[in-house]
Amino acid sequence: MKKIVVFTGAGISAESGLSTFRDSDGLWEKYSVEEICTHEAWERNPQLLVDFYNARRRDTMKAQPNAAHLAIAKLQKDLPNTQVITQNVDDLHERAGSTNVLHLHGEITKLRSSINETATVPLEGWEQHYGDRHPDGSLLRPYIVFFGEGVPYFTEACKIAATADIMIVVGTSLNVYPAASLLQYAPDSAEIYLIDPGQPTMGVYASKIHHIQKRATEGVPELVENLIRELKA
Ligand code: APR
Repeated sequence: MKKIVVFTGAGISAESGLSTFRDSDGLWEKYSVEEICTHEAWERNPQLLVDFYNARRRDTMKAQPNAAHLAIAKLQKDLPNTQVITQNVDDLHERAGSTNVLHLHGEITKLRSSINETATVPLEGWEQHYGDRHPDGSLLRPYIVFFGEGVPYFTEACKIAATADIMIVVGTSLNVYPAASLLQYAPDSAEIYLIDPGQPTMGVYASKIHHIQKRATEGVPELVENLIRELKA
């Protein structure tokens, strides 16, 4: 059975009403990374970051998975050799029914220890209270990989990408490393489909990528339907 690896970014959740980062109305147009997405920012003004991620968590809880998230969950059900890797911190893949989703940049529904990057605890509801502590005694912080911090599961993601017969990339500008380099780990023989109405930074891969220049809710269901028809025994 062919191995399918799905790699998503903020664009897949755009039609669920969650902001992307670098589109004209993106988060980085309204906030500076230095203010809310670096370790220094956390040290300097933790309450600001707690408030910021509480607001994003509340938006995430109000959002619903869209047709693209649902199509990927169906792909995984019909073709079980499918793995989802996401840069997104929302839980829309999981709420659509996808399983074993690998989050490269953290998960907004969890908090983490300040001294162990993978020691997470679930958060009930949307509001973190600054000052609460992890069982290891350290202050709890949002489970978000800040710029300049390590990406704990990147090696695991590379190993998965290296097994892909088919890679489906959805809604990422491919601007942020190391995540964007995941395409380099796909075998040369892999078919790469990229679904994005915009023009991500495809670089040297442009020639080997099938760019489906459509919104996720249009392009993903169409591609999934074709793959299931073609590959489901
Ligand atoms: N359907 C598909 N793609 C879309 C849609 C849509 N409806 N709307 C926008 N896009 C595309 C944009 O064209 C762009 O290529 O989604 C991409 C969004 O790019 P970014 O905002 O840069 O988001 P992403 O690539 O996920 O950012 C990567 O950067 O800030 C960090 O940690 C953050 O995980 C994030 C990382």
